[in-house]
Amino acid sequence: ELITMTDDYLWFEGLPFPVIGYSYEVLKEAGSQFVIKDEDTVLVTYPKSGTNWLVEILCLIHSHGDTKWIQSVPTWERSPWIETDEGYKLLNEREGPRLMSSHLPFHLFPKSLFTSKAKVIYIMRNPKDVLVSGYYHWTMAKLCKQPESLEQYFQWFMQGNVSYGSWFEHIRGWMSMRHRENVLLLSYEELQKDPRSAIERICQFLGKKLTPEELDSVLKNSSFQVMKQNKMSNFEMVPEALFTRPFLITRKGISGDWKNHLTVAQAEAFDKVYQEKMAGFPKGLFPWE
Ligand code: A3P
Repeated sequence: ELITMTDDYLWFEGLPFPVIGYSYEVLKEAGSQFVIKDEDTVLVTYPKSGTNWLVEILCLIHSHGDTKWIQSVPTWERSPWIETDEGYKLLNEREGPRLMSSHLPFHLFPKSLFTSKAKVIYIMRNPKDVLVSGYYHWTMAKLCKQPESLEQYFQWFMQGNVSYGSWFEHIRGWMSMRHRENVLLLSYEELQKDPRSAIERICQFLGKKLTPEELDSVLKNSSFQVMKQNKMSNFEMVPEALFTRPFLITRKGISGDWKNHLTVAQAEAFDKVYQEKMAGFPKGLFPWE
């Protein structure tokens, strides 16, 4: 009831969130009271970094390559969102070990994480690709303010005036966790380049031993082509009230699509801000640099 307009955001702690599916109360309670348990696996991303892909991979690893789960239950029920009204409720009712997703920035994340041994996977992606992917997503989503052009979305993104706030702040905050034993840092780019190795790293991190055949199945069934056909994973199931049709989360699935979208001037402006905001990180940490 706080905000019901679909052309705006829900503001929480100074950050914009989607209006539909979110509430001030749940965002507040999740951050302060939600209990993350040692046996949980938590997937953290900035929106459009490959969240749904990772959920598919994690579910397939969990089921040793069996596809029953991913073919019968939608992504958001397999790995509920901590900060959404529906996800928060689902998680509170669920027995452990739980799989859960979140886009929350570090400073708004449930405090219980810091004393738990839960396994955290953070997946990052070239921010220019995140921007382009986000432009398509938020243009189709009827959940909050919709951009009218890429140029307009570009301005919003650079200022952090998009759902979940600034990409730069998100990554800066979460990078502070990267040396923890229970945190695995992955990139969309390395998953693209060598998915088998990336999936092996995930298995090792989770302490899951898969046979070569099981691993083959994880690889095949989480591939872009197969995922695009899975209506439990491609967003075909999302009600039309929430997304303009046709909308699939599996849009293009490549690295470097920004080159087909951003002008030279935009790319240069982006790089300038990037250099200012991302100064101080070690070389080699980010695969897109
Ligand atoms: P594009 O819009 O660039 O195609 P999220 O799940 O965090 O919303 O991220 C969505 C992005 O991940 C989309 O990027 C989507 O195509 C890509 N994606 C989803 N499944 C994928 C897969 N199996 N392989 C590669 N990319 C995938």
